Amino acid sequence: MNLLRFDSEESWIAKVVSLWRDRLRTTPDLTMCLPTGTTPLRVYAEMARSVGVGLVSFARARVFVLDEFGGLAADDPGRTRNTLRHQLIDAIDLPPPAFHFLDPDIPDVTRHCKAYDAAIGDGFDLVLLGIGLNGHLGMNEPGSPSDSTTRRVDLHTTTIESSARYFSHHNLPQWGITVGLKTILGSKEVWVLANGASKREIVRRMIADEISPSNPASLLRRHPNCSLFVDAEAGGSLIAE
Ligand code: GLP
Repeated sequence: MNLLRFDSEESWIAKVVSLWRDRLRTTPDLTMCLPTGTTPLRVYAEMARSVGVGLVSFARARVFVLDEFGGLAADDPGRTRNTLRHQLIDAIDLPPPAFHFLDPDIPDVTRHCKAYDAAIGDGFDLVLLGIGLNGHLGMNEPGSPSDSTTRRVDLHTTTIESSARYFSHHNLPQWGITVGLKTILGSKEVWVLANGASKREIVRRMIADEISPSNPASLLRRHPNCSLFVDAEAGGSLIAE
């Protein structure tokens, strides 16, 4: 795993976006899986600006949402589809049919998940990930099988509690749908983004823990092309004090 550590959040954002632009220029029909959450917020804002000034285009790309919360109204701004639209998709030139999202309201969720995996096809060229405080990737909580595909999952109590920051109400989602670890681990390239002091301990554990499904993020150490981008705060445990 490549470790890229930056002195400031600004340089962390600039590098991620610059590499992302490079990937899109080299492979205009890039198939991507993108997370929501607070981590990528400013990365998305900078990428939207890049598209706005003509530095790069998503016109031939495909974007798949990493996960989705269940049990919320379709127009809840905290649903990942709505969040990603608001933070990135509505500001870039991605054709609407190239934006793929999970619909937790569909009666046959299993069939829907199979269709999502079929649409992903040969796998992602690039997956961007945040990291949960317990090492979860998307909604693949500790204990998720490493051969899992897109499926409905129950969220851990700590994940439910920490999701409160995404919502303006107290009806916190108890479950969701997530792209599975098999698909994430089978992607050509994976970038894990971590910023801020709250991620310091899980970044340390991602590197120091035994490689095991009990810490899904640790499984990425076996990926042949995974990069971990940390700012000074999130990467604070990785340098000699
Ligand atoms: C959330 C989401 C993930 C996200 C991660 C980190 O629960 N399901 O997709 O990447 O946890 O979130 P944040 O970036 O807000 O810290």
